[in-house]
Amino acid sequence: MKPRPLGRSGLAVSPVGLGAGRIGGPDLSHADVDRLVGAALDAGVTLIDTARSYGDSEERLGRALADRRERFVLSTKVGYGVPGVQDWTGDCVASGVDAALGRLATGWIDIVHLHSCSLEVLRQGDVVPALTRAVEAGKVRVAAYSGEGDALAWAVRSGAFGAVQCSVSLVDQGALDGPVAEASARGIGVLAKRALGNAPWRFPNRPAEPDVADAWDRFGALSLPAPPAGWIGLFARFAAHAPGVSAVLVGTASPSHLAEVVDAVRCGPLADEEVEEVRAAFARVGRTWSGRV
Ligand SMILES: NC(=O)c1ccc[n+]([C@@H]2O[C@H](COP(=O)([O-])OP(=O)(O)OC[C@H]3O[C@@H](n4cnc5c(N)ncnc54)[C@H](OP(=O)(O)O)[C@@H]3O)[C@@H](O)[C@H]2O)c1
Repeated sequence: MKPRPLGRSGLAVSPVGLGAGRIGGPDLSHADVDRLVGAALDAGVTLIDTARSYGDSEERLGRALADRRERFVLSTKVGYGVPGVQDWTGDCVASGVDAALGRLATGWIDIVHLHSCSLEVLRQGDVVPALTRAVEAGKVRVAAYSGEGDALAWAVRSGAFGAVQCSVSLVDQGALDGPVAEASARGIGVLAKRALGNAPWRFPNRPAEPDVADAWDRFGALSLPAPPAGWIGLFARFAAHAPGVSAVLVGTASPSHLAEVVDAVRCGPLADEEVEEVRAAFARVGRTWSGRV
């Protein structure tokens, strides 16, 4: 896959990124993570997105990337979870970046997001400047914000961020005409999280996990006809080729699932009529749905 510019940040990212939440759990070995990272590279996936809150994900990536770090664009998220430091303070962001550098065993992190903080936190005066200073110090290449709603809109307009991360999928279209379009116009890169909408078609009954259940409800309400080529293609192509989106993040630990998404995205944009059908369904039933954090 040909890398795309991440806005005007100077970075280029593969159109499909690996969401590395699943690799933080206890069911995967270092060898599994090693294989997944190798398979990602083979498929042309060079963007990996992790976070402080994804279990052992950062440490495992640090180990798996040790001899191939420069081949990847590495993204993580900070703002909380530093022992002895109050969450969502400038100190927590500064020490969170340093701690992430240690866990990821790297001298630089390409993209660091403030992870879902509120508008109030963004405005409070020490959190955003702490991330800016980490960029100035060469520890971070691109400062980013991950979140939804009014905080996302503020982040896009603030001038403080080179990239944002927000939900974009069939069941999360609310940001497309607002913050995503505005980010694109301002040269800010957009990473689309939950791009498969948590793959709701897999569940015959309402799932227990609240965020997946929410996606399942929305998916049912959209009442889209099953696409002949399968749901993966519709979800992946819709999000990856949505105007303004630089890359989609796919949460999986399965090399074959990741490859399936890559193959779908390689097919290019959906036909105009398919996009119109998906947008019209959302306009009918989803206008009041907020972005799923
Ligand atoms: N910033 C934030 O607050 C935030 C929040 C949510 C997500 N994210 C980012 O976005 C990434 C993706 O989000 P997500 O994992 O919540 O949602 P997602 O990618 O929309 O959905 C993940 C689900 O899709 C399934 N899947 C993946 N490929 C598939 C395939 N080819 N066929 C069938 N099922 C497939 C996975 O199952 P398997 O595990 O079986 O493959 C997994 O259960 C995360 O990893 C993270 O990087 C960020």
